[in-house]
Amino acid sequence: MIIQALTAALLCLHAGETIYLDTLDLAPVEQGWKTAQARLSVDGNAISIAGKGFGHGVGTHARSEWTIDLFGAATAFDAMVGVDDEFCSGDGTVVFVVMGDGKELARTELIKKGEAARPVHAELTGVKKLTLVVEDGGDGINYDHADWGDARITMADGAKAKPRSTKPARPYPRIAMTQPTAPAITQPRITGGTPGKPFLYRVPTTGVRPMHFAAKGLPKGLALDESTGVISGSLAGDGSWDVKIAARNELGSTEAVVTIVGGANALALTPPMGWNSWNCWAGAVDDSKVRAAADWMVRSGLADHGFTYINIDDTWEAGRDEQGRILTNEKFPDMKALADYVHSKGLKLGIYSSPGPQTCAGYEGSYQHEKLDADRYAEWGIDLLKYDWCSYGNIEPKPDHAALMKPYVTMRDALRGSSRDIVYSLCQYGMGNVWEWGDEVGGNYWRTTGDINDSWASMAGIGFGQADLAPYAGPGHWNDPDMLVVGKVGWGPSLHDSRLTPDEQVTHITLWSMLASPLLIGCDLSQMDQFTLALLSNDEVLSVSQDPLGKQASRVSQEGETEVWARPLEDGSIAVALFNRGRETAQVVAMWDALGLSGRQHVRDLWNHTDQGAFERGYSLEVPRHGAVMLRVTPER
Ligand code: GAL
Repeated sequence: MIIQALTAALLCLHAGETIYLDTLDLAPVEQGWKTAQARLSVDGNAISIAGKGFGHGVGTHARSEWTIDLFGAATAFDAMVGVDDEFCSGDGTVVFVVMGDGKELARTELIKKGEAARPVHAELTGVKKLTLVVEDGGDGINYDHADWGDARITMADGAKAKPRSTKPARPYPRIAMTQPTAPAITQPRITGGTPGKPFLYRVPTTGVRPMHFAAKGLPKGLALDESTGVISGSLAGDGSWDVKIAARNELGSTEAVVTIVGGANALALTPPMGWNSWNCWAGAVDDSKVRAAADWMVRSGLADHGFTYINIDDTWEAGRDEQGRILTNEKFPDMKALADYVHSKGLKLGIYSSPGPQTCAGYEGSYQHEKLDADRYAEWGIDLLKYDWCSYGNIEPKPDHAALMKPYVTMRDALRGSSRDIVYSLCQYGMGNVWEWGDEVGGNYWRTTGDINDSWASMAGIGFGQADLAPYAGPGHWNDPDMLVVGKVGWGPSLHDSRLTPDEQVTHITLWSMLASPLLIGCDLSQMDQFTLALLSNDEVLSVSQDPLGKQASRVSQEGETEVWARPLEDGSIAVALFNRGRETAQVVAMWDALGLSGRQHVRDLWNHTDQGAFERGYSLEVPRHGAVMLRVTPER
């Protein structure tokens, strides 16, 4: 009798079909690096955890999230999980979580590389949605190659439905979508330059063309083009001028004051806004793609919202001529003509090099040719240089503080000695706390991190990781958490839509604007959809980024996975961002006392341009998973 019952139970247990997860579609898996692999690790090796191989399984990378529709037809999930043995220079730590219909069903302890695979089991009877999560173990996502070894679902006896991998629907957040047609002078409203060097400022003005511009109080040496609104010339001396600009089109007119500062290297007085070729084209960039970026910067209207720089990243360089002068390769037949083209639109051209003998992509660097290169850039008409450490690591394998600064000082002096103002962008991924000395070596902004990619883990890890850097930013010198990953990106030649969800993209632009970071678009401007354009052209959001006070935001409170960040603005109001880093919708609360405020405060929602009313003690709102709300809080007078 007992034996019969046991046999029946066993039969019952084994009666359902087993579905290995590596047979499902892996495209919907969201993860922090690369893409999920069937029966292989994330780097494409046979799955192996602490020396043990698994014939089945899925290799992923923290943070990852994968939803599978079960239609209530499964009974159990089982896997052996751990960090893959494959070579990578560090040790990953991860936590595996199994969720059913939003509830946690199983969670491992922290697992480190080299530790034996752990069994994970979850009962699934009645569960409709299975979600498999890999968390980063609290130390960031680096080296977190996570394997779901032998991962499988047991189906109920006779189940007809099959599990199906799905991409959860992510509705678009409600943000202002329309572009203004009457004239409005946007931002930045402060700009500067070195007297005696060429000056260029395209008054950022939205509204339909034709437009007529006028200026009162322009400093000596500068002139305004009345039909394009481009101010050019060369400042005659030091000073600060409040210039009254008027713009008019068939629908109306507007006026605004723009401050022009004359002084040695009075550059990047607000965080530079522009485009850089790397996150879309990488090595596939060429002259025509850069011209197209300039064309679309104007055609899309982004130039009217303040976007100015068109930056060529790595892979434009050839060798040197007999005099040691840097040459361009066949992709860039005439750099001077390209600069002239970009300038003819009132935009500026940026370029890239390395203090080492080679750039990161293995092209000619500036080592021991700094002065020649700076002069060459000036001759071409370059306005910005991104200077990327890379092979300088071979010259200085273990750099101390002075050695880290040295190559940047050399190039600073070369740039300053050239005939143009060249914004100086340091790129060395934050080594030696560059934020503490980047200003001293002449940096107008400095990368604080490694490279970004278009995943939540990467973007959020980098963005929220900037919390303590506010004291180091200010007019002329900014922290740079890397370029934007909204729109069509892909590190070329082929592109894909950003893998960030719409809410994550709002978080991205909110954070970067709050952080007073450079806003360097990394997508193909000719293929922007309406949502991407709306994200990048919201003037109320951009006016926080470009606020002349130049104070970077800090985190003011944190509760669970919700955070409130704030930055003071020039007009006495405060920009406040409510973030929800959690996986579910959450209420986020900003209390006035945490912001140093008391009494009634007016709240305006900057993303959707609506006044929310006046509030006595604080403001709270439901924020979607991975989403953000951006507010301007103004004391009631
Ligand atoms: C990396 C840098 C990237 C890009 C690339 C070019 O070091 O962080 O932003 O410039 O080099 O090779």
